[in-house]
Amino acid sequence: MKSIIIYESTHHGNTKKLVEAIAGKYPVETVSIEQAESVDLSGCDRIGLASGIAFGKFYKRMEEFAARIPSGSSVFLLYTCGNPGNGYVKNITRTLEAKGVKVIGNYGCRGYDTFGPFRLVGGIAKGHPTEEEIAGAVAFYEKVVNQEKNGHAL
Ligand SMILES: Cc1cc2nc3c(=O)[nH]c(=O)nc-3n(C[C@H](O)[C@H](O)[C@H](O)COP(=O)(O)O)c2cc1C
Repeated sequence: MKSIIIYESTHHGNTKKLVEAIAGKYPVETVSIEQAESVDLSGCDRIGLASGIAFGKFYKRMEEFAARIPSGSSVFLLYTCGNPGNGYVKNITRTLEAKGVKVIGNYGCRGYDTFGPFRLVGGIAKGHPTEEEIAGAVAFYEKVVNQEKNGHAL
């Protein structure tokens, strides 16, 4: 089973911490969004899309990339955001499902945010993702893999 995670983590490298923790424990190839165009995804059994959140969605480049994932692929989503929320995967999930891509789960947590006015107050969600939140991403990945092995959808 070949796994790959494509990441875009430009604000503070918050999301990349989740990706690195997963790849540190499991055989997962990691590719930045800049290099993603040159990767052949057709041979991947499991594709992760990992991104910070901007204006309520995954980063624009990642949202656009999602529309080019081969139909029939299985995708999981990882994100970090300044404000906790659960609607951030809505748009990208819609894009993927419209393409016939199966979304097999998502995990999100807070990430240090100094965007706009938050910079003036030293940022929000300082210290995030925490070790616990990073471990949560690894546990999420394990769950995705195990559920697939057992033939269940999440
Ligand atoms: C331009 C911009 C817009 C953002 N918009 C949101 C938002 O709508 N909701 C939110 O919770 N966080 C928002 N954030 C905060 C980031 O999603 C958060 O800091 C995230 O952890 C950054 O991930 P990264 O370091 O992996 O890029 C925004 C950050 C930037 C730079």
